[in-house]
Amino acid sequence: MTVVAIDGPSGSGKSTISRQVAQQLGMAYLDTGAMYRAAAWWCVRDGIDLSDADAVTDAVRALPLQMGTDPRDPSIAVGGEDVSVLIRSTEISTVVSAVATNLEVRAELRRRQREIIEAARGEAGIVAEGRDITTVGAPDADVRILLVASEEARLARRAREIHGADDDSALAATRDQVLRRDADDATVSSFHVAADGVVTVDSSDLTLEETVAAVRGLVESRQDGRP
Ligand code: DC
Repeated sequence: MTVVAIDGPSGSGKSTISRQVAQQLGMAYLDTGAMYRAAAWWCVRDGIDLSDADAVTDAVRALPLQMGTDPRDPSIAVGGEDVSVLIRSTEISTVVSAVATNLEVRAELRRRQREIIEAARGEAGIVAEGRDITTVGAPDADVRILLVASEEARLARRAREIHGADDDSALAATRDQVLRRDADDATVSSFHVAADGVVTVDSSDLTLEETVAAVRGLVESRQDGRP
């Protein structure tokens, strides 16, 4: 079955789009960013100093993470506790890059991502999204897409998502969560320029529905054996 890898910067819309495409095509869905967020939440909850790379690595290796891959209800639990809302807090959004730039943490979470992707490959297929899925997470995916959008469009989307508005103060408050975080994350993954064989979809001037249709079209043409 099909493995679809989608990468992109913050605010590119990749989570919403990946989820909708997976749902429409009856495939599983994996939000790898949520795994980094759960890892950060776990470390913060245990009072681990995020600048202590070894302590963070040890903690993440022991992370009892359960990822549910149903796109209609993608659950995320740690030790049986539903953390889907907790991991979206501003506190976690602010510190998550500190955990996601730890290379040992990346190796550990990538190993777990591959297990989930391989299990789904033999079943309904999967849409996996993040920052490094097209390049190192699943470089052999059947369809690899880089979803991009202008800085302006990404800031406005995130501001509406977090603050319910995209006026100047909402944009200013969102800047750290989008631009600073992407700059930090870009030190360990390349998600602004498509790697060889990766198709770029620019959603700056597309509606959500149009972007879903564009991505879905790429997956379906691959499934049909069209180039
Ligand atoms: O997409 P998001 O905002 O939920 O991602 C959370 C963090 O995890 C973000 O700092 C980028 C990082 N991340 C990563 O480094 N590699 C991935 N494959 C997915 C997310």
